[in-house]
Parts: sequence; C-alpha cells; structure tokens
Amino acid sequence: MSGRLRLGVNIDHVATIRNARGGDHPDPVKAALIAARSGADGITAHLREDRRHIRDDDLERLMAALTIPLNLEMAATEEMLEIALKHRPRAACIVPERREERTTEGGLDAAGQINHLLPFVEKLTASNIRVSLFIEPDPAQIEAAIRLKAPVVEFHTGRYAHLEGKARVEELRRIADAAALAFKNGIEPHAGHGLSFDNVVPIAAIPQIAELNIGHFLIGEAIFCGLEASVSKMRAFMDDAR
Ligand code: PXP
Repeated sequence: MSGRLRLGVNIDHVATIRNARGGDHPDPVKAALIAARSGADGITAHLREDRRHIRDDDLERLMAALTIPLNLEMAATEEMLEIALKHRPRAACIVPERREERTTEGGLDAAGQINHLLPFVEKLTASNIRVSLFIEPDPAQIEAAIRLKAPVVEFHTGRYAHLEGKARVEELRRIADAAALAFKNGIEPHAGHGLSFDNVVPIAAIPQIAELNIGHFLIGEAIFCGLEASVSKMRAFMDDAR
C-alpha cells in the first residue's frame, strides 16, 4: 500500500480525432508508445459497441506494439468477451455502456447484475486476464465485487471531478472509505474519470489506490504542450501526492 501509483493512459480520444476525418492520423498506437516512454505504466482503451473511437484493428495493433500492459475497457456483452478472450490483454475493466451517452456516465451496477456478470469475470479470469469492475465508491458495489471474486475495482471519479467545495470533499471521503474497504477485502482499488492536473492530487494521495486511468484531459492538454509533457506532468503530480 502507498507504493508507486501506476498511471494508465487512456488513448481513446486520439482515435476520436482520427475518426473525425476518417483517415489514419493521429494514430492512437503512436500515442500509446509516446505515453509509455513518458511515464505511463499501462495503456487503456475502450472498444465500444459503436466503435466511436478505438476500433478492432487498433486493438490488434496495440497488442502487437506495446511492451507495457493493455487494459481493455469493455461492456459485459458476448461480442466483447469473445474479443477479449481472443486478444488476451493483461487487464479488462468491465464498464456500463449505453449508446446514447457521451462518455461512461456512472459506474457499473454490479450489485444489481451479479448473475449476468459472473460468467464474464470467471471466463476472463480463467484466461489470465485481470478483471476490474468500474463501480461507484459504494459499499454495496464493493460487496458485489467480493462476491464476484473480482481482483480489482476502479472507482468512478466523475462525480468527484464535477463537484465543488464541501460536496467535493464529501465525495473524496466516500472514495477514500471505499478504497480502504476494498483493500481490506483483498481487492486492489483503482480510480479514474474526469481527472486533471487540478483535481488529481487528493485522489492520488489515497494510500490504497494502486492505479489511476486518465484519458480525456491528457489528450486535450497534449494539444497545448505535447503528449510527452502532458503525461510526464501528470506523473509528477501523482508522484508528489505519495
Ligand atoms: N476509467 C474508465 C473505466 C473509463 O471508462 C474512462 C473513460 O473512458 C476513464 C477511466 C478515463 O476517463 P477520462 O477520459 O475522463 O480521463
């Protein structure tokens, strides 16, 4: 606990920009390699049902090019399970997915769909893929993760990122308590969504949290300072918080 905090860089939005023009620039795989040499410990990519950013061939190229672990974000569907079992990334984070949402809004209701999720967790785990559940920092969801035998949970920090003042402090407390509860039960806590230079430090300071997954802000900031600088500055904020 409280060792080096890992940084997973989510490269989805490099693909969003590429897809806006339908060509092959900017290449998310090139971005992943730059992130890796700038302080990322892993790369995260979300293959959505509608392929709005990362596509199947990106996943194939990422698996071939990366020397750091890939964390595949996926919905609990048969299609995504088949893809994950074919490529066998180091980790898979099960996320809720609704076509009409702009991004992953809210955590997975693991407590409400234990029977649906169980075969996904079991099959991924049997293939040596480290499963994580993207959940709200809520004891009922952690309880579900324990029942599902998920080795990792990732706490959705979107609410924390959007709140201000006292409400943000309260949400931070909820995340810290959830991280302690997960850790006590042998589950590795991660966190992500909406993190930026301005709000990362209190989350990075929670001693049980082992990994942060950050995308949109880092890719946006790279427009102003370059991806290498954006990732290494985030790395420095995280290191200083520990
Ligand atoms: N973690 C998970 C599970 C996500 O779904 C996302 C968004 O794709 C992130 C982290 C990163 O969020 P952001 O792009 O806001 O940094």
